[in-house]
Amino acid sequence: MKIRVLLLCMAGIAPAMAMTPNNEPIQPILPAQITDPAKVELGKQLFFDPRLSRSGFISCNSCHNLSMGGSDNLQTSIGHNWQQGPINSPTVLNSSLNVAQFWDGRAADLKEQAAGPIANPGEMAFTHTLAVDTLRSIPQYSDAFARVYGVEQITIDEVTDAIAEFEETLVTPFSRFDRWLLGDTQAMIEDELRGYQLFKDTGCVACHNGPAAGGNSFQKMGLVSAYETANPAEGVAGLTGQDADRFKFKVPTLRNVELTYPYFHDGAYWTLEEAVDVMARLQLGRQLGDEDIASITAFLKTLTGQQPSFALPILPPSNNATPRPKPFE
Ligand code: HEC
Ligand code: HEC
Repeated sequence: MKIRVLLLCMAGIAPAMAMTPNNEPIQPILPAQITDPAKVELGKQLFFDPRLSRSGFISCNSCHNLSMGGSDNLQTSIGHNWQQGPINSPTVLNSSLNVAQFWDGRAADLKEQAAGPIANPGEMAFTHTLAVDTLRSIPQYSDAFARVYGVEQITIDEVTDAIAEFEETLVTPFSRFDRWLLGDTQAMIEDELRGYQLFKDTGCVACHNGPAAGGNSFQKMGLVSAYETANPAEGVAGLTGQDADRFKFKVPTLRNVELTYPYFHDGAYWTLEEAVDVMARLQLGRQLGDEDIASITAFLKTLTGQQPSFALPILPPSNNATPRPKPFE
């Protein structure tokens, strides 16, 4: 996808981009370029198919609901057996722009990420073997995989590849902010522009920059003063064991942030005003007044882009050979 975006720039989007003021810290999101529609369609089916879970009830869309900004709007997710998840579910929208996946970056890319939840006992609680067996039992899936990948037998590799291909289409261009960036001076009102100026002047752009307004670095939560939370997540330190990485999380994208409440890795704050206040105090040592917080919040809401829209995928039915779901055990 990264390479494709680059090629795109060289192949014709460049003139439109040239209208973007070069010195702005946030750049417009480019619309998805679909090169393999059959693969995207297959990935879309898999994203919505709850038969990739042990219960037969939980799909990727359960926790990354594309009707709700690609998130579940819960403090932490609900997994198999109604288990309480350990951490807030980030949006899948624009996740292809992330430098790595997960709050601590433990998956390098979307394909590697997609293997995680299927086998995670607290999420979909299946095994890759069972997930693949389920798909192999359904002739329509076998045919689709054969067409797209030329394989006789489905493996988890094609499953995660197709899901990732679909996720790469989940970008949200044409937000009001992007239209403003591209030269439409009417796209934002004065208060929102004031908020954007404050966002830059206060120093938010040090971490929230690039097309996703985040997603491209790992930063300490509580840089200036400590973040109080009961959530045990350690951030990157959970992977590296390094004390310096304690409480370092991937900076979340602020694209569509109006839709992806509640906020932070522990989902502790439900309003954008609170999140902005916490950020200003803890990351920058700044106490903002209500009016400034309101303006920054108004700006953040202009980052809501055009949501992915498509026909709901109709999934091929199970048959006598398909393993039965096990919702209650
Ligand atoms: C039970 C809820 C649940 C299900 C089901 C689920 N996820 Fe997630 N997803 C999460 C949570 C929670 C995280 C954050 C975990 C972490 O960072 O440690 C996450 C993280 C992600 C991320 C990383 C986003 C980022 O910004 O880092 C992607 C992409 C993603 N999931 C895609 C998927 C796909 C694809 C599926 C289906 C195969 C799926 N998820 C199924 C809850 C879920
Ligand atoms: C030093 C880096 C840094 C600076 C500066 C910074 N942020 Fe953040 N921001 C982060 C990190 C890291 C997180 C995730 C923290 C967590 O979840 O524990 C975050 C999370 C957020 C969130 C919640 C997003 C979500 O989906 O949960 C919002 C909103 C936000 N920042 C806005 C701002 C604003 C507004 C400013 C300026 C007042 C700002 N940030 C300054 C690093 C930064």
